[in-house]
Amino acid sequence: MTTSPTTSGVRDERVDIVVVGGGAAGLSAARVAARAGLRVVVLVKSADTATRYAQGGIAYVATGGADSVDAHVEDTVVAGAGLCDVDAARSIVSSGADVVESLVARSGRFDRAVDGALARTREGGHHARRIVHAGGDATGAEVQRTLTADAQVAGLDIRSGVTVLRVPAGPYGVHGVLATDGTDTLVFHARAVVLATGGLGQLYTCSTNPSGATADGIALALDAGADVADLEFVQFHPTALYSPEVPVDGRRPLVSEAVRGEGAVLIDMHGESVTAGVHPLGDLAPRDVVARAVTARMHALGVDHVLLDATGVERVGERFPTVTASCRELGLDPARDPIPVAPAAHYACGGVVTDAHGRTCVPGLYAVGELARTGLHGGNRLASNSLLEGLVTGERAGRAAAEFAAAASRAVPGGDEIAFATARVLPRPVLQALTTAYASVLRDGSGLDELVAVLSSADTVTVDGARIAEDAALTVAAEALARAASARTESRGAHTRTDHPDRDDELCVPITVRRSESGELDVTVPRLTGVD
Ligand code: SIN
Repeated sequence: MTTSPTTSGVRDERVDIVVVGGGAAGLSAARVAARAGLRVVVLVKSADTATRYAQGGIAYVATGGADSVDAHVEDTVVAGAGLCDVDAARSIVSSGADVVESLVARSGRFDRAVDGALARTREGGHHARRIVHAGGDATGAEVQRTLTADAQVAGLDIRSGVTVLRVPAGPYGVHGVLATDGTDTLVFHARAVVLATGGLGQLYTCSTNPSGATADGIALALDAGADVADLEFVQFHPTALYSPEVPVDGRRPLVSEAVRGEGAVLIDMHGESVTAGVHPLGDLAPRDVVARAVTARMHALGVDHVLLDATGVERVGERFPTVTASCRELGLDPARDPIPVAPAAHYACGGVVTDAHGRTCVPGLYAVGELARTGLHGGNRLASNSLLEGLVTGERAGRAAAEFAAAASRAVPGGDEIAFATARVLPRPVLQALTTAYASVLRDGSGLDELVAVLSSADTVTVDGARIAEDAALTVAAEALARAASARTESRGAHTRTDHPDRDDELCVPITVRRSESGELDVTVPRLTGVD
């Protein structure tokens, strides 16, 4: 259903490509597309991207060492709990060296070992030290700095404070973007649109994501006719810094897994290991395993956090300055004091279904970064594969979008075809409380069905402003997530059903959600048959 614009000011522009989002994936896509000579505009809600907060690093295998792409793919697929697309994973992992070398060539300052080579650390699920980092634990901030500086030098057209309301699309593909700058309605007519809007952490009361992680791209892509998949796999980071107050913007500081990679251990209030006997990799088990172990210990002891003891980590303050600064704000010194930690929503393993070049099923529509479901992560993302994916698929989608836009011969439709969407909206605090209660680390069928019932009966509104667009996006993403989680009657990866604790091999397939003609969400569960 649509309705006509009602705000007074409407401004129209014609470009070739619109990129939505200014983190690692978006800026990578925009840079490549602009270099191809296309008119590219980048629309950014806020400079507070998720990329900025990434700590651990970028996982990739350098040529010529003892590690191998095969081993990296193997660790990725094992962490992914049977749901990775192995070809996509191999394709993305194989391009890691290229994107990191390109960042270094563009003045990216990564940490170095004494021999001058890039320093490498380890995180959960990795069997090798293959993660490069910057500023100790400020890798994302350095990646963002490098890409932003590069964008300025290249003169990229970046518009800040702009929220995208809709990506209108017809049978032949996207028409452009309908947006708002808070005052006027902006219409960008374009042949291709690259969505790089990040994740959905704001679905939950506590997340490691910034306040703009409101699932915008999920809503935009569903509305445009794209599929989403694997949404039930929300990765909870086991070690977000805990404090008794719920943060105002919902964001809890991360305590990087690399702290455990350098020897820190998870203990409870009695000094007992949290992960002993849970997994052969102990505190460096894949993230879903550790998040469940922490949650189970918190439930068993009736407490709201456990402790990360980093007192044995050499020069912890120097190696992890970001973590140390966050701890100091709570009056703690990680060199002396155990760090209070608890799981928090961290990463959407699923998202808009794309190939390894960011192409969706809608012509001219691309999705990259955390928003996309390429098949790299499956049911549980391997640590530090996210910046890798964003950089690799960002560049590829920029190239693919440029080729598509250059070849597209159809006329770009006029402004009178543009109309606002309508959508269901639940007030954000209510939505966050319900999603946190019913769709966190542990879920069950009755909670998920309750969540679906509330979401699907929320009031319908016209999506004509920034805040309403975010709330509408959170509402539709929560419903898609809850419907998929309800349909996945098993436990796998980051999806743990207390009423279905085992894996069901017939469900070792992605569950897909698509918007039907009537506007409702259709869930497809392609059960495998004849599986032993
Ligand atoms: C971390 O540093 O623990 C987070 C890295 C990631 O999410 O991949």
